[in-house]
Amino acid sequence: MNDKETIIVIDDELAPRESIRMVLKDHYTVNTASGAHEGMSMLERDPVDLVVMDIKMPKMDGITALQEIKKNHPDTEVVLLTAYASLETARDAIRFGAFDYLIKPFDKDDVLAVVKKGLEKRRTKKGLKLERDILLDRASYLEDQVEAARSKILSCYEGTVSALILTIDAKDHYTYNHSNRVAKISCAVAESMGVPDKLIKEIDRAASIHDIGKIGIEENILRKNGMLSADEYIEIQKHPEIGVRIVKSIPFLEDAIPVIRHHHERHDGRGYPEGIAGEQIPVSARIVAVADAVDAMMSDRPYRAALSKEKVFDELRDNAGTQFDPEIVNLLLSGKVSME
Ligand SMILES: [Fe+2]
Repeated sequence: MNDKETIIVIDDELAPRESIRMVLKDHYTVNTASGAHEGMSMLERDPVDLVVMDIKMPKMDGITALQEIKKNHPDTEVVLLTAYASLETARDAIRFGAFDYLIKPFDKDDVLAVVKKGLEKRRTKKGLKLERDILLDRASYLEDQVEAARSKILSCYEGTVSALILTIDAKDHYTYNHSNRVAKISCAVAESMGVPDKLIKEIDRAASIHDIGKIGIEENILRKNGMLSADEYIEIQKHPEIGVRIVKSIPFLEDAIPVIRHHHERHDGRGYPEGIAGEQIPVSARIVAVADAVDAMMSDRPYRAALSKEKVFDELRDNAGTQFDPEIVNLLLSGKVSME
């Protein structure tokens, strides 16, 4: 296998072209070309490590060819040959990416020294490129690892939410079905309000477990068919705070806390647990509060039959601005939001 470094010598004059080839041929694989076009076609076919090229050539001069080579083969080093030892020519050559230049007539040792240095630079660049590729590979591997960990955490999150939802189901089947429907209506409202996707997902999860605190309420109160006594009503009003205590210990459920805590607040401030009003109530909780009431009204309960859609609309209209956020009520009344 030939692992010698490769060089093309481009010069329209035979004598310097051949003499450079003779100087270099024992150390490197050297090919020659009698013009810039020919040299560049050779480069296209088979890229090389270094080009030695005359500046003054017919058809295409060395400075133009240098720029072309640097554009298409940025890693190939170029050494220019010049019979016009002017500082300006050298400066142009370096500015356009030449590694160095040799002045004609050149000395054999100078040629070897400049080419050697040019190839060293090329090797260093290759090494750096390799290191960069290794680092990029490593970065992409780490990104994959982070993504895998993220989906593991997410599935753990979903598992926890499902477990909580099933706990509600075991305690009170009505609340379980009701929570799922509230989540659906809440998401439809949020979408029509133009709420960002991330918040819609949060609202979906939060609405599914908004009544999780009912786990802590006695079943005889929870399942009571008749009117609640004053004491029982006080008891049931504790479920938002109990819910907050349950999810507080689960860090990734903290987004659900505003909904769990505030879904029984009223627009006029006469709700519970904190009695906050209007825009003080987080928008997610305002949405879930309306969806909660809508689904409760549209459901058959042991103490009354489900209300018709018209009756539900009447209730929403009558209580907009007092119990409910009027903007959310208007959205539902407009018929743009599915209530099923
Ligand atoms: Fe509730």
